[in-house]
Amino acid sequence: MKILITGAAGFVGSNLTEALLERGHHVTGVDNLSYGELRNMDDFIDHKNFIFVNGDVCNYSLIENIKVDLLIHLASQKIPRYSNSLRTLEENQSMTKNVIRKSLADDIRLLFSSTSDVYGKNPQIPFSEESNLVLGPTNVKRWAYAVSKIYSEHLIIGNNAEHDLKYTIVRFFGSYGKNQNLTWWGGPQSGFITKAFNNEEIEVHGTGLQTRTFTYVKDTVQALVLCVEKEEVATNKIYNIASEAVEEVTIIDLAKTIWKLVNKNESEAKLNFIPYSTFGKYEDVMRRVPDISKIKAELGYASEYSLEQGLKETIEWQLKIIS
Ligand SMILES: NC(=O)c1ccc[n+]([C@@H]2O[C@H](COP(=O)([O-])OP(=O)(O)OC[C@H]3O[C@@H](n4cnc5c(N)ncnc54)[C@H](O)[C@@H]3O)[C@@H](O)[C@H]2O)c1
Repeated sequence: MKILITGAAGFVGSNLTEALLERGHHVTGVDNLSYGELRNMDDFIDHKNFIFVNGDVCNYSLIENIKVDLLIHLASQKIPRYSNSLRTLEENQSMTKNVIRKSLADDIRLLFSSTSDVYGKNPQIPFSEESNLVLGPTNVKRWAYAVSKIYSEHLIIGNNAEHDLKYTIVRFFGSYGKNQNLTWWGGPQSGFITKAFNNEEIEVHGTGLQTRTFTYVKDTVQALVLCVEKEEVATNKIYNIASEAVEEVTIIDLAKTIWKLVNKNESEAKLNFIPYSTFGKYEDVMRRVPDISKIKAELGYASEYSLEQGLKETIEWQLKIIS
């Protein structure tokens, strides 16, 4: 298959591109390197079936003439924690409109990356694809990210109803691993590994009792490859992509596990609790637990990595990069 991937120099994009090239697909990757890194593409930048285009997906002419069979849209702004929400809202909306326009013009399927954050504060655990999306007030800017993804999902489904747009929407739950962004942008595990390695206090936001499930990137990629290759089943569907719900862990326990793995159990984890008020008016999601029965039943997905196995491989990669 010929595939266009936006955000190819980012974390998920680079891991997915590598896997798709290994499976014989042709990939054109687009990225403006705002958060991605050229080094993430080192392993495949010279691959004969890979083309890299450096540019902004908000600019439609950049993607207009790239002829492919499938468009995977990963480029995105994320939760505005240290910045304001305007860029998240405007850039995500602009990119979604462009990838929809492109998919309709060329009559190709659009695989859109949404987020588990859309389930928001819904207290009914676990979250299935049919669960309610429960967000907080508009003056808490962190919800702008979920809003931008929900709006994108609605735009896609509306275009399916009106113009027969073919789509697959995936909602990721905390993916981590090789090529993750080394700042908070890459998720809590990323910053925790660097702090533990430097023997510094790990910064835990809030009480640390909030829970998450984390998905090793090889499992995330396995699920995405199934969505790509099992087109007849995955078309016009929404799937959660995550590890099994039994891997639910508090952020404190995540920090302690990482400290133990990095420092070989020789000392107690040093933790520094950062109050949410540091980010202005903020709300966290206290429990985020996936129901992945749909993707297991329909596409045969089976997550293979425990949190500890995935963290060990991630730590090995990250320590090489930072040292
Ligand atoms: N990583 C996760 O755990 C996770 C969880 C939920 C949802 N997601 C979603 O999955 C997708 C991939 O996430 P990721 O973790 O790989 O993020 P990432 O930031 O590592 O990768 C996104 C890439 O898109 C690029 N990009 C951003 N804006 C662009 C623009 N206007 N034009 C061109 N390129 C642009 C960035 O430079 C970056 O390389 C995103 O849509 C994100 O919202 C990820």
